[in-house]
Amino acid sequence: MSGRSGTSTTPTSAEVAGAGTGASSGAGAGAGERGRDTGTIRLGDRTRGEATDDTTRYAPEWLQLREGVDSSARSAELLDPLRIRLANLPGRAGGFVIHDLGCGTGSMGRWLAPRLDGPQHWVLHDRDPYLLHFAAVGSPRSAADGSRVTVETQRGDVGRLTPDSLAGASLVTASALLDVLDADEIEALAAACAGAGCPALLTLSVAGRVELTPAHPLDAEITDAFNDHQRRGDLLGPEAISEACDAFTRHGATVQMQPSAWRLGPDESALMAEWLRGWVGAAVEQRPELATRAAAYLRERLAACEAGELSAVVHHSDLLALARPVGGA
Ligand SMILES: C[S@@+](CC[C@H](N)C(=O)[O-])C[C@H]1O[C@@H](n2cnc3c(N)ncnc32)[C@H](O)[C@@H]1O
Repeated sequence: MSGRSGTSTTPTSAEVAGAGTGASSGAGAGAGERGRDTGTIRLGDRTRGEATDDTTRYAPEWLQLREGVDSSARSAELLDPLRIRLANLPGRAGGFVIHDLGCGTGSMGRWLAPRLDGPQHWVLHDRDPYLLHFAAVGSPRSAADGSRVTVETQRGDVGRLTPDSLAGASLVTASALLDVLDADEIEALAAACAGAGCPALLTLSVAGRVELTPAHPLDAEITDAFNDHQRRGDLLGPEAISEACDAFTRHGATVQMQPSAWRLGPDESALMAEWLRGWVGAAVEQRPELATRAAAYLRERLAACEAGELSAVVHHSDLLALARPVGGA
C-alpha cells in the first residue's frame, strides 16, 4: 500500500472533475481545455491515510454533477437479493447499520436509504473532512417505509478496515471507490466483510469500456491510454472489479455482478463535457505523445456535445457480495 503519484498540480475544473479517477473520470486535464480554475481543490501526490494537502481530492461540484446519472446507472437488480439478506439478519428489529466507504458527498446513501425498509443508521466514511461535511448536511432522512434514517461521519482511511471496524454492521456500501483502491486494500475490504459476516454492495466501478456515437478514429487510443492511467502505481483500474469478485469469493462470499453504465446524451451535456475533459486529460497525462491529436479530438468532441450531437455509454459494474453470516451478524 505504497504512496502513489497523483495528477497534475494545476487546479483546473477539468482536473478536479477527474481527480484520482473514480467512476468515469480521468485524472488531470492537459489536452488544451484549460482556464476554468475553480480554485477549490489543490491536487498533488496521493498519500495514504487521511486527506492532507497532498492527497488527491474530489471536488463536491464534480460529485454533485454526476449524482443524477449515477443514480440512474446503479443496478436495481441487486436490490432484491440485498433486501432478502437484510430481512433475514438476526437482530434487524433494532435497525440496520450501514457503512458507506469513500462516501464523498453522500450520494450512495441518498440513493439507497429510500430504497430499503426499516430504520437505518449510516456511518459515512471518507478521508476528506470537507466532503464529509456535505455528506452530513445532505444526508437522507427517511427509509422506503418512512422509518428514520440517521447518520454519523467517520474520517479515516478505508484501506485499513478490519473486521472490528465493521462489528455490528448490517451492510457495507461503496460507490465509485474500487478503482481508486489497490489490491491490498480490496483484500482488506473483503476480509473485513467476511470477518463481520456483512454483505457489501459496491457500485459504479469502471469497466474500461466506452462507446461514443458517432465513433471517431482516436476513440480506441484514448480509451487505452485512459485505462493505462487508471492502472498507474498500485491501482488496478478496470481490473479492480474482477479483483474484488475474486477476493470476496476467496473469503466465502456469494458474488453477483450487474452492469451499471452511464448513458449520456444531450440532456447530460454538462456532465459529458466535464467527463470528456477528465477522460482525455488523463489519457494525455499517461501518453504525452497524444497531446496534439488529443487536443483537436477534445475540441471536436466538446463541440459535438454542445450541439447535442454526441452520446456516450461509459460502462461500469456493480457488485453484491453476500458474506456467510457469522454469529449475531
Ligand atoms: C470517486 S469519489 C466517490 C464518492 C462517492 N462515493 C460518490 O459516489 O459520489 C471517491 C471517494 O473516496 C474517497 N477515498 C478515496 N480513497 C480513500 C481512502 N483510502 N480512504 C477514505 N476515503 C477514500 C475520496 O475522498 C472520495 O470522496
